[in-house]
Amino acid sequence: MIKVGIIGGSGYTGGELIRILLNHPQAEIDFVFSTTRAEKKLSSAHPDLLGLTDMQFTARVNPNIDVVFLCLGHGNSSKFLKENLFSDSTKIIDLSNDFRLKKDSIFEGKEFVYGLPELKKTEIEKADYIANPGCFATTIQLALLPLAKAGLLGQDVHINAVTGSTGAGVSPSATSHFSWRNNNVSWYKPFTHQHLGEINESLKSLQDDSGELFFMPNRGNFTRGILATAYTKFTGSEAKAIELYESFYADAPFTNVAEEPIHLKQVVNTNQCHVHLHKHDNILLITSATDNLLKGASGQAVQNMNLMFGFDETAGLKLKAGVF
Ligand SMILES: NC(=O)c1ccc[n+]([C@@H]2O[C@H](COP(=O)([O-])OP(=O)(O)OC[C@H]3O[C@@H](n4cnc5c(N)ncnc54)[C@H](OP(=O)(O)O)[C@@H]3O)[C@@H](O)[C@H]2O)c1
Repeated sequence: MIKVGIIGGSGYTGGELIRILLNHPQAEIDFVFSTTRAEKKLSSAHPDLLGLTDMQFTARVNPNIDVVFLCLGHGNSSKFLKENLFSDSTKIIDLSNDFRLKKDSIFEGKEFVYGLPELKKTEIEKADYIANPGCFATTIQLALLPLAKAGLLGQDVHINAVTGSTGAGVSPSATSHFSWRNNNVSWYKPFTHQHLGEINESLKSLQDDSGELFFMPNRGNFTRGILATAYTKFTGSEAKAIELYESFYADAPFTNVAEEPIHLKQVVNTNQCHVHLHKHDNILLITSATDNLLKGASGQAVQNMNLMFGFDETAGLKLKAGVF
């Protein structure tokens, strides 16, 4: 069993990591660090853990663990690593955007690999430090990577995606207040969302002249999940597109090409990404769906851990969707 530490364990992604790792066959949680809840039970922040563990949060970090997950807001991961030293053999998986872009990927001599297994499995297997992708970024890249790989993403791409309220973290805000969010939908950060940087870097790594992305993010009145639609000009047939995607994802245990149109409940509470293709005139419509806290965050982080330690890629991640 490898020993795992979690920093920021009272937040949403930290909580999901605890839930997954309590049931992981080859990993055990050594400590869960919290700045505000030391000595309190994990179930004080995550009441669903009552009866599953008596473990407490701690304000002490064990520097000699096998892997540490950083579940902190942007800017806090690099600050935390400056203030807390880990042993040379400790692997680090960071869920923030501190190290995702190439320009930020080397930090105090550590080289962070962008942790999207569908794009970089071989590099992840050899990596000691991982920058886990963003939730919108994961969902949108999985919708577009096969086209870029085939050099067929030369035209503008229009993307619309809607996310649940957990995407914004555990701290209440005006736009996660029940009275505002319930029965409501709105857009935010039109064409400027911060995940565009990492999406573009990945697409350009496969197709240098890939088209411009026009991304409209939306807030939905549900708690978890992302449904994204992307469309672009495509001259081939729908069957050709399906063949391209099935071949690209042949070795990806969590990304599936769906024959029928997809919906969010198929993937919520799982580490799956479903992708569907539909051709209309000369337009290809790609729909993709993930759970923002699992394939979009903590599930993918554990998938990366599995690859880094040579475990079965799906270990601890055979989860059940809440379809009804
Ligand atoms: N939510 C998502 O869907 C999602 C998806 C992909 C990626 N991410 C990224 O993952 C990271 C965590 O997201 P989240 O949604 O889990 O956030 P969150 O719910 O706000 O939790 C973050 C936790 O970090 C701890 N914290 C706050 N300031 C800190 C500091 N200065 N030093 C150490 N710990 C501090 C807090 O826990 P304590 O009070 O217990 O210390 C807090 O509960 C973010 O960078 C986010 O962008 C989130």
